[in-house]
This record gives sequence, C-alpha cells and structure tokens, in this order.
Amino acid sequence: MKQFYCFSTKMLPSPLPYFLILAVLLVQVSSFDFNFPNFQGDDGNQLILSSNSSIALGAIQVTPDVNGASMQNRAGRALYKKRFSLWEGNGVIASFNTTFVLNILSQTSPGGEGLAFIITGDSSVPDNSEGKWLGIVNSDTNGSPEARVVAVEFDTRKSDDRDLDGNHVGLNINRINSISQVSLSNYGFNISRGLDLLVHLQYDGENLTVRVNDTLVLSEHVDLSISLPNKVFVGFSASTSNETQLNCVKLWSFSGTDIDGDENFFWVWIVISAVVLTMLTVVLVIYLYRRRDHMEDDMEGAQGNIEDEINRSSFGPKKFRLKELKQATANFSRKNKLGKGGFGTVYKGSWMNKDIAIKKVSKKSNQGKQEFIAEVTTIGNLNHKNLVKLIGWCYERSELLLVYEYMPNGSLDKFIFCNHKASAEECSTLNWEQRLTIIRGVAQALEYLHNGCQKRVLHRDIKASNIMLDSEYVAKLGDFGLARTVEGKEKTHHSTIEIAGTPGYMAPETFLINRATVETDVYSFGVLTLEVVCGRKPGNQSEQNNYNNSIVNWLWEFYKNGKITAAVDSRMDANFVENEAEHVLILGLACCHPNPHYRP
Ligand SMILES: *[C@@H]1O[C@H](CO)[C@@H](O)[C@H](O)[C@H]1NC(C)=O
Ligand SMILES: *[C@@H]1O[C@H](CO)[C@@H](O)[C@H](O)[C@H]1NC(C)=O
Ligand SMILES: *[C@@H]1O[C@H](CO)[C@@H](O)[C@H](O)[C@H]1NC(C)=O
Ligand SMILES: *[C@@H]1O[C@H](CO)[C@@H](O)[C@H](O)[C@H]1NC(C)=O
Ligand SMILES: *[C@@H]1O[C@H](CO)[C@@H](O)[C@H](O)[C@H]1NC(C)=O
Ligand SMILES: *[C@@H]1O[C@H](CO)[C@@H](O)[C@H](O)[C@H]1NC(C)=O
Repeated sequence: MKQFYCFSTKMLPSPLPYFLILAVLLVQVSSFDFNFPNFQGDDGNQLILSSNSSIALGAIQVTPDVNGASMQNRAGRALYKKRFSLWEGNGVIASFNTTFVLNILSQTSPGGEGLAFIITGDSSVPDNSEGKWLGIVNSDTNGSPEARVVAVEFDTRKSDDRDLDGNHVGLNINRINSISQVSLSNYGFNISRGLDLLVHLQYDGENLTVRVNDTLVLSEHVDLSISLPNKVFVGFSASTSNETQLNCVKLWSFSGTDIDGDENFFWVWIVISAVVLTMLTVVLVIYLYRRRDHMEDDMEGAQGNIEDEINRSSFGPKKFRLKELKQATANFSRKNKLGKGGFGTVYKGSWMNKDIAIKKVSKKSNQGKQEFIAEVTTIGNLNHKNLVKLIGWCYERSELLLVYEYMPNGSLDKFIFCNHKASAEECSTLNWEQRLTIIRGVAQALEYLHNGCQKRVLHRDIKASNIMLDSEYVAKLGDFGLARTVEGKEKTHHSTIEIAGTPGYMAPETFLINRATVETDVYSFGVLTLEVVCGRKPGNQSEQNNYNNSIVNWLWEFYKNGKITAAVDSRMDANFVENEAEHVLILGLACCHPNPHYRP
C-alpha cells in the first residue's frame, strides 16, 4: 500500500481536496488505528464489555469497581469491537504498537489477581476464568490450542508455584503459565499500589517487546500466527479471587498495519476509483483552464473557422500579416486614425506606396467577427467601380483587420450634413453635378449587388456614412458589415432575427417583417437620395410621432404643395438643374414608398 501511496502522490499534483481525501483513504487502508485518551460512557459502543466489566470514573473497570456488588471472584474482558487482521495465509504477519495506562489498586493484601493485555480469537470470557485464571483461560482450556489467546499479564498475586512473585509481567500463550516472565520489583515498580503504569507493547511480526514506564522489561521472539486465528480481538482481561483489587485501564491507543485481504481489496477499489476520479478531474480542470486561456487569448481557436470561411471564397482579398499592417500604420498610431464607426476603428496606412485604409474590428464584440466574415466574403469577391475595394484582411493574435483602398475624401455624410459648428472648410459642400454622380454611382452599385453578381447581396446598411468618396468624388459603397448574400436570384430576402440597419434608413416594413429584402435596400437608397439633394439628415422613422422629423414625410409635404424643388439644399445657391432635381427627388420619394411593391 505504501507503493500505491507514492504512486498516487506523484500522479496528483493538483486538486488538494481530492488529494486529502485520497490520503485519508490510504491511511485507512494502511492501518488499523484507534485511540482512547480516556474512557467515557459512549466509548463502550466501540468495545465489547463482558458483564463484569464497565466504564466508570474515566476508565475501563475490567472487573467491578467498589460501587458494584461483590468484587470477589470476578472475571472480565474489555475488547475492541473490530477485529484486527494479524496474519494472512501467504505468511504476512501484521505488526502493531499499543500503549495503555493501567491502574491497579489492591483492596486486600495482597491484591488479586491480575490484569492482562490479550490478543484472542474469542471475545467472551471463558467460564470459571476468575481467580488465578485472570480471565484468560480456564482449567479446561489451559494449555490447549483451542484457547486461542496470547496475553501479556500483569500478575499481582503469586497464585501458582511457577509465578515469580506477586508483582510481575509475563508472556502467556494459550495457558496461564508464562513462557517468559520478569519481576517488576527489579525495576522498582509496584503494580498494585494504585499508580499509573504506562505500558508500550510493540510487535513487529517477530519480536514482542514490553516497556513499562519507558523501561524495556520484556522482549520475546514469538510468532503470533501459530497460536492465534488470522483475525483477532485485542483488549484486556482481569480477575479477582477472594483477594480483590481494582483493575482499571485509563488510556489506550492502538496502531497496527492492516494486511486484511478482503477489506483491502474493497479499499483498493475505492482508492482506484478515487485515483481515476481525480485524474479525470485533473484532466477536466486542465481542459477547462486551457479553454479559458484560449478564450482569453481571444478565440485564437476560431482562427481556423475564420480562415475556412474566408477561403471558401475562391479568389479575392489578400491575407496580410499583422506585422505588415502595423508597419503600414506606424503601429496603429493615433495620428493615422481616420475615424471610428461600424464595428471598429479605421486607420490610414501606406502599403507598397499606395494609401490604404485599415479597419481594426472591435475585439470585444462577437458580432465583430460575424461582420468581419460577412465583409470579407461579400465584397472580397465583388468588383465594381462604385464599391469600396477590399484589398485584404488579416486575422492574427485575435485582431481582425480589413484593408481597403484609401478614399481621400472620406465619407459622404461629412459633405451633406453640415454641422453649424464646423468651419467652412470642413463643411465644403458638393455641387449639383457631384451630387448627381454620387446618386448615380450608388444606384449602380446597388443594381450590381442586387442583380449584377453571382449571388445576390443585400447591403442592409446603406447610409451617407457608408458612402466613401474618392479623389474625384466618385461614390463608393462600403461597410458591408451587415451585408448578406442570398442564394440565387429568385430569392429576394434574407431572413433575420435581429433588426439590422440604421434608424432613419430602414423601411417601415422592416419592423413588421423582420427581414432584409431588395426593397428595404431600395428604401435606404431613397432616403440617401433625398439627403444628398436636400442636405438634410434622415430623421428617425423608428420613433413614433416624428412625422415631421422624417425626411420622407418632410419632402412629401413639399411634393403635395407642388414645390418639391424648394427642398433642394440651399447651400448650392440654386445652382442646379431644376427638372433634374425634380426627377431625382420624385425617384427618391418613390423609393421610399410605404408599400415595398411600388418601389422602383
Ligand atoms: C460475572 O461475575 C459473576 C459472579 O461471579 C459470574 O457468575 C459471571 O460468570 C461473571 N461473568 C463473566 C462474563 O465472567
Ligand atoms: C511501532 O513503533 C515503532 C517505533 O516507534 C515504529 O518504528 C513502527 O513503525 C510502529 N509500528 C506500527 C505498526 O505502527
Ligand atoms: C510511572 O510513571 C508515572 C509518571 O512518571 C508515575 O506517576 C508512576 O508512579 C510510575 N509508575 C510506577 C508503577 O512507578
Ligand atoms: C506493592 O504494594 C502493595 C500495596 O501497597 C503491597 O501490599 C505489596 O506488598 C507491594 N508489593 C511489593 C512487591 O512491594
Ligand atoms: C528479534 O529479537 C532477536 C533477538 O532478541 C533479534 O536478533 C532480532 O533481530 C529481532 N528481530 C527484529 C525484527 O527486531
Ligand atoms: C483467600 O483464600 C485463601 C485460601 O484459599 C486464604 O488463605 C486467604 O486468607 C483468603 N483471603 C481473604 C482475603 O479472605
């Protein structure tokens, strides 16, 4: 079992509680222990007390104490309830240590008869074993192998010729006469004077030694397995005759190796189960730790997924190294920050002498990952002069990055929604020609997405801030974070649980049907058109009671009054072609028709 113990400690570097449980189990396996620092009433439950034995005054009274009836001619036994496995068929003999304190006070002079530590196969006191028999044997069993008892006697009366004296220790095997005895008078001890006598017995499988008050008084080579059954009771016996004494045991501890086969087998099973369980726990804990680490490493494990999904698109954007992009943006320095939007921050960079825009997708949102994949897979494969070109992407160390062509003029919203606080320069406005080109460009991009490519793409988030302007003010539709492809032309919508898009640009039915369609994209385009012409924010359709706040309703009023061109952005100083503006505004309104089927 010791080997087992070593094995298991090595195998269990972690969870301490399991280790402790295991250690306790192993202790139980490897030894047979008990300890009575004194004796109280309850302790009787762990003992087999014969009818003339009792627990009183903090001690076992092996024969009756003064409070009982007659103390004369009594024999008693007090044994530990559980049997100790002394030996096994394969020649293994247990070893043990036991310590006890005896207190014998003679009531007559001399006292009688004696007290013994016994190891025995039988728990009951032999009949007629009072008097000189010390509760060990009787006249019938004396000297017979059937007695099955070994005793270390503390004899207080010379009741036989062969007794040294009335104050000796002897080793008795199946008989009342000792195979070895020693007078304690030699050591200055008087057993029956009512003094505490501390006794250590040690048996190592070969020799039995007796120490009294830490003095070695007896050592005998003895094979206990010859005269005793393999399972034995341990405890005390005592007797009185017409001479009497108090036979008290005040303290008792016992520690023995448990070599018991059956019980061991049972424990081994428990230990093996515990070891297996612990190992499983360790594995589980390690697994969970690793998983957590991975999550902390920010879904490094998902890299495969992302690459797989992106690689499914046959050709397309280049895969960048994070190092390259860091270099291109001076390690994403603030100086190079172009803006923050959608699902991340956009930086300006320079790569192979070309200006590029790099969007760093926000790390935290799982949505960011979704958008990332959407963007790379949709526009990565598209090529149109009015779509922002995706040059490449990067997924490294949990950073999601998208690389676009750089748009020197930034996004459209900057030009059409002029903030009053903004300086004139920042608020440089667009002329009619430019505005018309932009609307045409977005229309072409949308036509291409809806009908011009292999798979229909719904952009789902058409708005001024997602329209980029190149150096020539050519509109390029960008930010495909919400875009979804729908298989085949015949399908016109993408079912969605979440409502995606930007308030003000979302068709009224979006809230009813909860899905994106070609028509909802058209509606957004309509709003955009009206904005570009009128230089006005879209207002918020999703809010109730905001009729006048919505650009569509606002413009509808102009239309009803037959003065639609009055809504045109005043910053153009009336430098626009009246009937062109009228057509464009009516087109915008038509695109915003409440009934999706009436939209162009
Ligand atoms: C207890 O003492 C009584 C009286 O001497 C005796 O009859 C009886 O056998 C004793 N019991 C035992 C277990 O020795
Ligand atoms: C008994 O005590 C001795 C000395 O303290 C020790 O070496 C031995 O291992 C002990 N035996 C048992 C079974 O506890
Ligand atoms: C044994 O030692 C204890 C404590 O040292 C002492 O009180 C007691 O009297 C001694 N016993 C005998 C029989 O001398
Ligand atoms: C031991 O003490 C008892 C009681 O005091 C006494 O009767 C007896 O003679 C003593 N025995 C020896 C050997 O001194
Ligand atoms: C037992 O005692 C004998 C002699 O007293 C000694 O030779 C032997 O080594 C002892 N055995 C053990 C296991 O201590
Ligand atoms: C006990 O009996 C013996 C004889 O059998 C006798 O000598 C002794 O005096 C008796 N003791 C007492 C205390 O009666």
